Amino acid sequence: MKTASNPSDHKTTQPLAAEFNLLQIRQDFPVLKQTIRGKPLVYLDNAATTQKPQCVMDAIVGFYAFDCSNVHRGVHELSRRATESYEGARLKVQKFLNAAESREIIFVRGATEGINLVAHSFLRPTLQPGDEILISAMEHHSNIVPWQMLCEERGAILRVAPINDLGELIMEAFEQLLSPRTRLVAITHVSNALGTITPIRHIISLAHGKGVPVLVDGAQAVAHMPVDVQELDCDFYVFSGHKLYGPTGIGVLYGNSELLEKMVPFQGGGDMISSVTFEKTTYNTLPYKFEAGTPNIAATIGLGAAIDYVSAIGLKNIAAHEHQLLAYATEAFARIPGVRLIGTASKKAAVLSFLVDGVHPHDIGTILDQDGVAIRAGHHCAQPVMARFGIPATTRASFGVYNTTAEIDALVAGIYKVKEIMG
Ligand code: ALA
Repeated sequence: MKTASNPSDHKTTQPLAAEFNLLQIRQDFPVLKQTIRGKPLVYLDNAATTQKPQCVMDAIVGFYAFDCSNVHRGVHELSRRATESYEGARLKVQKFLNAAESREIIFVRGATEGINLVAHSFLRPTLQPGDEILISAMEHHSNIVPWQMLCEERGAILRVAPINDLGELIMEAFEQLLSPRTRLVAITHVSNALGTITPIRHIISLAHGKGVPVLVDGAQAVAHMPVDVQELDCDFYVFSGHKLYGPTGIGVLYGNSELLEKMVPFQGGGDMISSVTFEKTTYNTLPYKFEAGTPNIAATIGLGAAIDYVSAIGLKNIAAHEHQLLAYATEAFARIPGVRLIGTASKKAAVLSFLVDGVHPHDIGTILDQDGVAIRAGHHCAQPVMARFGIPATTRASFGVYNTTAEIDALVAGIYKVKEIMG
């Protein structure tokens, strides 16, 4: 088996800060207290969605119980409170990403909608036949298909920077593919299928050196490491709330205000207008120009609570904890005969994709589930990544703030059981 990480990494990592109290953190997540078929739930599918701490659920229930109202519309007390909480969440996101201005934070349904918004409102109006959009070979479908649709419509070309056998972007090839026709680089910060952390700052500086704006898909990054959009100098950054211990149905598009100002609206309707007549509609200012219709107020407030939650623990502490888990799991998997890791980049977030000789990932998932171990099996919405490695699917364990080494032991025991059952 190939492993790029040093198996002893977990022994040499910095000790976790005293404020990182794993037992307390686990208490914050009611879902973790249950058993599945008599065994404690071992939730290792955090790249698909994370569990929610009680404070997030309380924030959502609190809104519906006491403050339920529409935002930006009513003059009454409930609407004032709802608006204050909704806009308060925007300020929390601004601080979380270190965006320069709160109007650069657009609430969307999720990372996918954020990418589609940029495709429609930023690129579509100016994209010409023969123009190019540059992505990488490790993108999630959400960062492929919107660009493919746009290229098809406009006669533009989708360029794909290749990855090596470890699952790392081949930087020389990426640089060569940055051409005078490149109109946008759209690239992931962390691969959901491989765990690779891309050298995003370097990528952005190369692209900017050629005058090309960059969209970063941060869906798998924001819950696992500190992100500073000003330091990265990215033009767009998207993420989903539900992978950050927040609710489903809410996400964020960060956009540089200079670009957002020039962009056309995404959808038409309430909140995105300044005035409407049958002859002409004028549009609202940022960020509302991109927030048509009644937003997902409760989920936005829930996202604000999730950001408070992870910020109190500290993203650096979360990253250190998950790094230890990944090193521990990588070392344990190296000792299991017939197991191969897919994605062994030197810089990885908490994702372990693997194959077991002669066993289909779905069978592995089903057998693990019998013992309450929840992982994902499949192509992980990244079929081109599977094609790159010549496989149909992998089994993927992905770690979060509440996971423990004992849970990794349960996963490893499950893999031995799989091997025993499947011969
Ligand atoms: N994109 C999510 C995953 O990686 C659903 O599982």
